[in-house]
Amino acid sequence: MAEFAVQSEGRSEGIVIKDDWPGYSLDLFSYPAHYSGDLDCVIIPHGVIMDRTERLARNIMDDLGNHAIVVLCVLKGGYQFCADLVDRIKDLSHNSNRTIPMTVHFIRLKSYLNDESTEDLHILGGEDLSLLAGKGIVGTGKTMKTLLKHVEAFGPKMIKVAGLLVKRVPHSSACVPDYVGFEIPNRFVVGYALDYNEYFRDLSHICVISDTGKMKYKI
Ligand code: HPA
Ligand code: MG
Repeated sequence: MAEFAVQSEGRSEGIVIKDDWPGYSLDLFSYPAHYSGDLDCVIIPHGVIMDRTERLARNIMDDLGNHAIVVLCVLKGGYQFCADLVDRIKDLSHNSNRTIPMTVHFIRLKSYLNDESTEDLHILGGEDLSLLAGKGIVGTGKTMKTLLKHVEAFGPKMIKVAGLLVKRVPHSSACVPDYVGFEIPNRFVVGYALDYNEYFRDLSHICVISDTGKMKYKI
């Protein structure tokens, strides 16, 4: 079996994608034909997401030792990241002498209409939690703060948050995830389960939506 050199990362902002990064041309990748014209560029290709997720799984395993993990997946945008992260943790735990008991739970949040964050955050469904949250995207951190308050009320031993994306937005709170995949510019992104009015969840790469795309799927 291959051995990989792994250094402890500590708390990190993840892979930083700069504001002037133009992304990859869509012509270099395949993506569903029904979205042609609706996207500006690929900002994070699917393979890179998977590679980064594997490393986050390793960091989580290193930090948690042999503690059981209760995963709380934040739907809908976080489902793909959560599923892939849980898979990687399973693989790593399978391939080492440490098996980590893990249960997976789901919570549903909705706060965006078109590309705007709305004030009314809906939390649908709650369970007994002592966990680690798998979350899709952290913008202002407002959603995350509300969710953490909700989760803390259950009195878990330890709470860790994993976020695939953290956006560099003005007025962001100090609420950042413990594990971050990527830090991205303040642009509306879709794909890898992130949606614009429920569209684009069936796109594997993380892409920047175009103005045409926004118009087409506006409600
Ligand atoms: N895309 C999709 N959903 C989101 C985003 C985004 O950029 N930011 C917050 N929720
Ligand atoms: Mg959404």
